[in-house]
Amino acid sequence: MKNKKKYIFTSQRLGFRNWESTDIEEMFQINTDEEVMEFFPGIATKEQIIDFIERMKSQFVYKGFCYFAVDKLENGEFIGFIGLSEQTYEAEFTPCIDIGWRIKRNEWNKGFATEGAKRCLDYALNDLKIKEIYSIAPKINTKSEHIMTKIGLRKQYEFEHPLLINDERLKICVLYKYDLSKNTEYSI
Ligand SMILES: CC(C)(COP(=O)(O)OP(=O)(O)OC[C@H]1O[C@@H](n2cnc3c(N)ncnc32)[C@H](O)[C@@H]1OP(=O)(O)O)[C@@H](O)C(=O)NCCC(=O)NCCS
Repeated sequence: MKNKKKYIFTSQRLGFRNWESTDIEEMFQINTDEEVMEFFPGIATKEQIIDFIERMKSQFVYKGFCYFAVDKLENGEFIGFIGLSEQTYEAEFTPCIDIGWRIKRNEWNKGFATEGAKRCLDYALNDLKIKEIYSIAPKINTKSEHIMTKIGLRKQYEFEHPLLINDERLKICVLYKYDLSKNTEYSI
């Protein structure tokens, strides 16, 4: 079991931490896997990954959350990200904080996204005291939508995502939300 102290928080099998420059290469591998990127407009460049990691690092410093780098506790292996990020694109529900996930393919269907997303939602609501958490996915990404429902989010509506407006395949997205005012408490 890897030293748990390096993590901001942990779940049963996962550790959640801020990003390190040593994550760049593995994150690049994940983001150039066409199956992982099936529901995105394209695969990422190295520059985009470096920029993403820098944005996440500084969001953590200034806001106390980001899409956290996630390791398996049993061996410290980096498997992708699960976490929270501010969204500011033009939409009825923005600015908002969303919960999102991206995991390397050989770790899929082991329950990691569900376990990690539940723990991040618990961290957001109970530690950071954020009252509303959103999640967004293209309607065709049914697996991601399934995770939203499994962690307790409720569907709000479907909308045309302003950043995907030119992508006929992806532009219709689902919006899910956890609203603390409509629930007394969130427990895993
Ligand atoms: C989405 C993703 C994070 C899920 O990770 P994961 O660790 O495999 O997820 P889990 O194992 O916790 O749960 C997978 C669930 O989806 C279900 N599932 C699998 N394929 C599915 C499909 N095509 N449609 C609906 N549900 C599906 C599984 O049965 C499982 O549900 P269950 O536990 O009720 O049986 C992972 O597939 C991924 O990284 N995808 C690429 C990135 C991505 O799409 N991110 C979201 C962008 S909006």
